Amino acid sequence: MTKLTVNNQAVQYRMDPQTPLLWALRDASNLIGTKYGCGTGDCGACTVDVDGRAVLSCMVTIGSLEGAFITTIEGLSRDRSHPVQQAWAAESVPQCGFCQPGMIMAAAVLLKANANPTTDDINAAITNLCRCGTYPRVHKAVRLAADVMAGRQRIAAAPPPGISPDDAARAVPALAIDKTEEE
Ligand code: FES
Ligand code: FES
Repeated sequence: MTKLTVNNQAVQYRMDPQTPLLWALRDASNLIGTKYGCGTGDCGACTVDVDGRAVLSCMVTIGSLEGAFITTIEGLSRDRSHPVQQAWAAESVPQCGFCQPGMIMAAAVLLKANANPTTDDINAAITNLCRCGTYPRVHKAVRLAADVMAGRQRIAAAPPPGISPDDAARAVPALAIDKTEEE
């Protein structure tokens, strides 16, 4: 039996310790936001946060993670209020969406470690593959999320299910600075 903490809940997996984390999450925990793309460590669709690191869940066994803290896309926030989720919606990043949970998790881990990533930092940290070519919007959204986290920008409330992000979530210009306070 392998004991982990998944999305802040203690979990005991009665599975072969050699089971890849991806299948424990999807099959035993029903956390199907984490995607199976290649199963060979090449695409990043299965990326989750393991103890603050972006990890390809198809490539690690649950037995090797005894005691680890796992965060999946479902655990990033309960109401899609995480700045990365908000920025993703505001920039309308996803196309088909299949790669996006992995992209978002890689971005969230990056921004925890690096509050102001450069283009090179983003390229180095987010190597996930996207067959729809969303990379330019991914970069914009990471920068927007960084600005939101730093208080330089605000984003409207997360769009409810079924509502177009274009209609429901918009980035607003950088916070107006009261010149009189600076003088
Ligand atoms: S499914 Fe894990 S890297 Fe592709
Ligand atoms: S949005 Fe379709 S694969 Fe990335």
